[in-house]
Amino acid sequence: MSSRRRVSARISAISESATLAVDAKAKAMKAAGRPVIGFGAGEPDFPTPGYIVEAAIEAARDPRFHKYTPAGGLPELKQAIAAKTRRDSGYAVEPSQVLVTNGGKQAVYEAFATLLDPGDEVLVVAPYWTTYPEAVKLAGGVQVDVVTDESTGYLASVEQLEAARTGRTKALLFVSPSNPTGAVYSREQTVAIGRWAAEHGLWVITDEIYEHLVYGDAEFTSIATAVPELGDRVVILNGVAKTYAMTGWRVGWLIGPADVVKAATNLQSHATSNVSNVAQMAALAAVSGDLSAVAEMRAAFDRRRQTMVRMLNDIPGVFCPEPKGAFYAYPSVKELIGKELRGRRPATSGELAELILEEAEVAVVPGEAFGTPGYFRLSYALGDDDLAEGVSRLGKLLSEARA
Ligand SMILES: Cc1ncc(COP(=O)(O)O)c(C=O)c1O
Repeated sequence: MSSRRRVSARISAISESATLAVDAKAKAMKAAGRPVIGFGAGEPDFPTPGYIVEAAIEAARDPRFHKYTPAGGLPELKQAIAAKTRRDSGYAVEPSQVLVTNGGKQAVYEAFATLLDPGDEVLVVAPYWTTYPEAVKLAGGVQVDVVTDESTGYLASVEQLEAARTGRTKALLFVSPSNPTGAVYSREQTVAIGRWAAEHGLWVITDEIYEHLVYGDAEFTSIATAVPELGDRVVILNGVAKTYAMTGWRVGWLIGPADVVKAATNLQSHATSNVSNVAQMAALAAVSGDLSAVAEMRAAFDRRRQTMVRMLNDIPGVFCPEPKGAFYAYPSVKELIGKELRGRRPATSGELAELILEEAEVAVVPGEAFGTPGYFRLSYALGDDDLAEGVSRLGKLLSEARA
């Protein structure tokens, strides 16, 4: 018998997406007839706007789109993404600096694969989205966590970043608004971080997928525009999923200097070739249209955000700073860990989340998934009634916790 592994070491080291796992378990319980309320999903609960769907239907009927198209994306879509980037961020790019990807996720993967050599370090602010560590690892890179907590609203300072920098640091990953915390850096903070990165010759990979989902007095700032000193060492990741309720269509993009984009396009040309033409034409309608659909969603998310934060902070042992963007709340549940609840003593936020799913039929994603145990992530991209019912069930159960 061969002594070789069946699954390579590299791929065995990839963990299951914890957010998708929670969602799958909640959906399975629901399918079995249990009234589960899921706060796990990272997607808008709205359908894709009709004019975008119509553009896809039209494209499906056009034989031009039944064939392979350029691996890097339809020229008209690349052009429209460049125009949209200038409109929304004031950042001027040529279509040759755009690579259309299979969702923002593929852009994340390709950015790290294209920039990192084995041993290159990437500074990643924790709590972080679950996909980043796996993408960094697959590229042979080393993720260096810069851990934040609720005391700063999950914002990292230049001092913290500087303390984590070494001679091997190649890049900073900058995500604002953040998944999972909803933290949004102010313009001043963004400029300070960008200038620090520029001063040390670091690349900045910036994930702007939640750019249009900011609330109250928070403002989205593109680090690429705010810090011209970064020169061409910036890679922007983005996509249509969150802005236009298009998670299932799988269209994202990567913007960067022409040599990096060319290299990433070569990678994609062997991995997946062009993104589905029908989906690309839907994305073209989305990015070249106006932003009224996202304005409507934003108003609903803002209302739900306020309800959720208020209700969470009313639960003893739960503390939730106000999220300023995206559609997630990230409360601390540290005070509840180790307490007695329905005859059990959950020792981690993971165990507490399991108990909550079983006892209250409410699905939350434990902080372990985001590099910071002791927290939950709750998405507020679900209907108002379900949201209120779910958090009130959570409150009722957690109020039973005893020392
Ligand atoms: C921060 C962040 N970036 C990128 C993505 C990728 O989205 P998609 O691959 O659906 O375009 C997500 C999705 O959850 C996200 O939260």
